[in-house]
Amino acid sequence: CQDARIARIAAAIRAIPNFPKPGILFQDITTLLLDTRAFRDTIDLFVERYKDKDISVVAGIEARGFIFGPPVALAIGAKFVPLRKPNKLPGEVISEEYSLEYGKDKMEMHVGAVQAGERALVIDDLIATGGTLCAAISLLERVAVHVVECACVIELPELKGRERLGDKPLFVLVDAA
Ligand code: PRP
Repeated sequence: CQDARIARIAAAIRAIPNFPKPGILFQDITTLLLDTRAFRDTIDLFVERYKDKDISVVAGIEARGFIFGPPVALAIGAKFVPLRKPNKLPGEVISEEYSLEYGKDKMEMHVGAVQAGERALVIDDLIATGGTLCAAISLLERVAVHVVECACVIELPELKGRERLGDKPLFVLVDAA
């Protein structure tokens, strides 16, 4: 049943205090990847949700969206598009600047990777403040792609990232403190 699968996934995620800096409790999904059943359940839950939604693009956010995105894309018959940190993609890119707690970052996508009118799912491991997912949505919407939903393994509800997404639907498997 679904609850048992979610409980197994939650149990397989490791929380590491004071990483990458003091006061941060880091949600480490590498331990989830070591648990073959929990990893498969994670992918299956996403595939079950998205397989009949007419999605042709799975956009994965660097770095850990590159782990969960491709198996979902293959299973639902969609292409995988990496949304990368600046200066990593070799071809022509469009980019979206966004603010972090301190300073700014940029997200880039190859021109021509998606076509106007396509339906996309955005995948990442975690939503905290929601700034990263917002940038991904903006990037795709600028080229007239419809973002059907965002999907993450983990949400940090205290940071209210979901509110920042406005009415864009967000699907998560596990809430963490
Ligand atoms: C983490 C996480 C998300 C983002 C969420 O990535 O994997 O991509 O932060 O934060 P937000 O909701 O506040 O925007 P990180 O910054 O650790 O980069 P990395 O994946 O390259 O390690």
